[in-house]
Amino acid sequence: MDRLAFASELARDAGKLAHSAFGQSVISLKGRHDLVTAMDREVERLIRKAIGRRYPDDALIGEEEGGDAGECVWIIDPIDGTANYARGIPHYCVSIAYVEGRVPAVGVLYDPSHDWLYAAARGEGAWRNGERLAVSPCAEMSAATVECGWSTRLPSADYTELVGRALGAGCAVRRAGSGALGLADVAAGRTEGYCELHINAWDCAAGILLVHEAGGRTNDFFAGGGLTAGNALLATNAALYAKLAGVTGFPS
Ligand code: IPD
Ligand code: CA
Ligand code: CA
Repeated sequence: MDRLAFASELARDAGKLAHSAFGQSVISLKGRHDLVTAMDREVERLIRKAIGRRYPDDALIGEEEGGDAGECVWIIDPIDGTANYARGIPHYCVSIAYVEGRVPAVGVLYDPSHDWLYAAARGEGAWRNGERLAVSPCAEMSAATVECGWSTRLPSADYTELVGRALGAGCAVRRAGSGALGLADVAAGRTEGYCELHINAWDCAAGILLVHEAGGRTNDFFAGGGLTAGNALLATNAALYAKLAGVTGFPS
């Protein structure tokens, strides 16, 4: 079984486990508005065990237990959208990416609430439940909906300024609480863009590949220390990239 098929099956299994305690898992706080549930940890253990058994020589970085980068590294988020998951809001997913030489080669998201499996392989395309994905063709800011991700890792004033600039440029702005699914929405053409001032690799590595393989563009998230320390992220289509890069101030 190749890595794409392996990751797809694993994401489904992990998502089914997560969904068995949807809205019911015990919550604790890692920091201000930074939730973790017992299920985040349980799902990460399941994923780690399966990858370790199948690909013992690959490195692995997970949100809950960390890990070190390597030339061949799996980047996993057991539950992305934990605040939604913990509150019983059906917008969260399991994210599994396989990155080679700092370039994502395989990216898979499983959204248990819809039974949607998003999958992408470098140079081959991106799909949702087997159906090919393509980014939105929209070229007008006045018709573009952009999701602006938020976390407490940066000052609130930076976020409100970003949202203000996007609104001022004519975009509609939303925030749905899962960076990974926000990128999947861009790949599927359901929104025109996703941006965040700081996001971690486990939130976005799989989603970035989905966007690229659906014909979209992102900044070079993995430049510098993106893989281990996170980075700013802009994902959109080719027609809007320069305009949104101007609005967000992120590198083009
Ligand atoms: C968070 C979500 C959120 C994004 C944050 C992430 P979590 O991940 O993806 O949408 O804006 O940057 O930390 O805590 O739900 O796994
Ligand atoms: Ca996350
Ligand atoms: Ca998480």
